[in-house]
This record gives sequence, structure tokens and C-alpha cells, in this order.
Amino acid sequence: MELSAAIENRRSVRAFLPTPVPRATVEGILDLARRAPSGSNTQPWQVHVVGGEVRERLIERALAWAGDHPVGSNPHPLRGDPAGFVRPYRQRRFDCGLRLYEALGIDRRDKVARERQLLRNFHFFGAPVGLIFSIHRSLLPGLLGDLGIFLGHVMLAARAFGLDTCAQGFWQDVAPAVQEVLELDPAHHVYNGMALGYRDPDHPANRVEMPREPVAAFARFLGFDDQR
Ligand SMILES: Cc1cc2nc3c(=O)[nH]c(=O)nc-3n(C[C@H](O)[C@H](O)[C@H](O)COP(=O)(O)O)c2cc1C
Repeated sequence: MELSAAIENRRSVRAFLPTPVPRATVEGILDLARRAPSGSNTQPWQVHVVGGEVRERLIERALAWAGDHPVGSNPHPLRGDPAGFVRPYRQRRFDCGLRLYEALGIDRRDKVARERQLLRNFHFFGAPVGLIFSIHRSLLPGLLGDLGIFLGHVMLAARAFGLDTCAQGFWQDVAPAVQEVLELDPAHHVYNGMALGYRDPDHPANRVEMPREPVAAFARFLGFDDQR
């Protein structure tokens, strides 16, 4: 697949087919993604690939943990507090939720239906494989950007294999449950999760199109002769 096509047709998929993903396919995706650059070639990523019974246990434990520590109520010093986001980021975040709920026919005021959609995160949106990304705490916060680049590579590499993904910052909210089930070294910080599988082409959640600003809205060109 052409790189430009992979970039253009990647989107966050929030409903997957139950079709299993062989271990060799995940290895192939990670083998491609490991070409990602990182500062001084530190390669600060650790990936925990969960399937089968471990995936089930992770879901179960995360749900139980969230019962006592509601999602959204846990502090995230590294992620920042969305309540403090300024315009236009605050508005875009709000708009993202609106578009998703609209595609799913959920009324924005319907808290129960919104909760139900949030619950889909626990189940990796039905994807048979979950990825958990962690980083050694000694590398925080400086190398989080490098880890983000790696995540981007994984998402595009998945497209090359005909698979889809949804990045899930959500898993930070239940990080203690993740640490426990994956028996993670406490020196590792759970940064993000990702659902990986085959997209359900008929599900309305996968019809949502998130817009992007044009280049002129975020790029400044300085020192160019061919000014428009
Ligand atoms: C770092 C990161 C974390 C994300 N966390 C979540 C998440 O927890 N749950 C979710 O449904 N989508 C999550 N997303 C998906 C974004 O909402 C999505 O990328 C954005 O709306 C743009 O849509 P697109 O990916 O379809 O182009 C995340 C994306 C990124 C890059």
C-alpha cells in the first residue's frame, strides 16, 4: 500500500470483526514500526501485546478497578487536564465527541448511552488484540513525543497489513489494573493502549469522519520567496 493511501484511509476504528489476528501479523506490524526514529536512537517504547485469556483478564480487572476509581477522575500529570484546554483545542475535543455520538445516534444529553460507548474502550472496541505501550519513568516527560511517533508508525504499519487501529489514551485511566495484570515493572509508565484488528465495515461508529484544519491554519512559512 502506498504511504499516502495508508495515511489517507487510516482512521480510528471503534468496531472490529471477531476475525483473529495471528501473532505473526502483529510481529510483522511491529517489525515495520520499529523503524520509527527517536532522539539519539533511544527507542523508548515497550509494547505489550494482549490477546486471548490475558486480554479477557485485563478487561475484567480494568472494569473492576474503574468501579472504585471512575474513569476521568484519575489525575494525569503528563496528559494535562482537558478542562484547562484553551480554544480552539477545547472546541475540537468537544466536536470530536459530538461527531462520534451523532454517528452512533446518541443524544449528547444521554449520559447512559455515552457511558455505554465509553465502556467499549475496555473491550478494545471488540478488537481481538490489544496493545499497551509503556515507557521507562526515567525518560519522562522528554521522550513521550518519541513514543508518540512510534504509535503513529504502528497505526500506519497496521494499514499496510490491512488492519485497523484505535489509539486509546483511555488505558492511562486504569493504569494500576494494567500494571497488575501485565505484571509490569513499576518503573514503567503506562502511556497508551491501542485496539488492533479488522474493521467492521458496516458499523456506524466507523463512518464518522473527523475533520482536519487546512495547512494554512497551523503552518507558518518564513523566508520563502514564493509567498502567496
Ligand atoms: C494519543 C491518542 C489517544 C486517543 N485515545 C482515544 C481513546 O481513549 N478512545 C477513543 O475512542 N479514541 C481515542 N483516540 C482517537 C482520536 O479521537 C482520533 O484519533 C481523532 O478523533 C481523529 O480521528 P481519526 O483518528 O479517525 O482520524 C486517541 C487518539 C490518539 C492519537
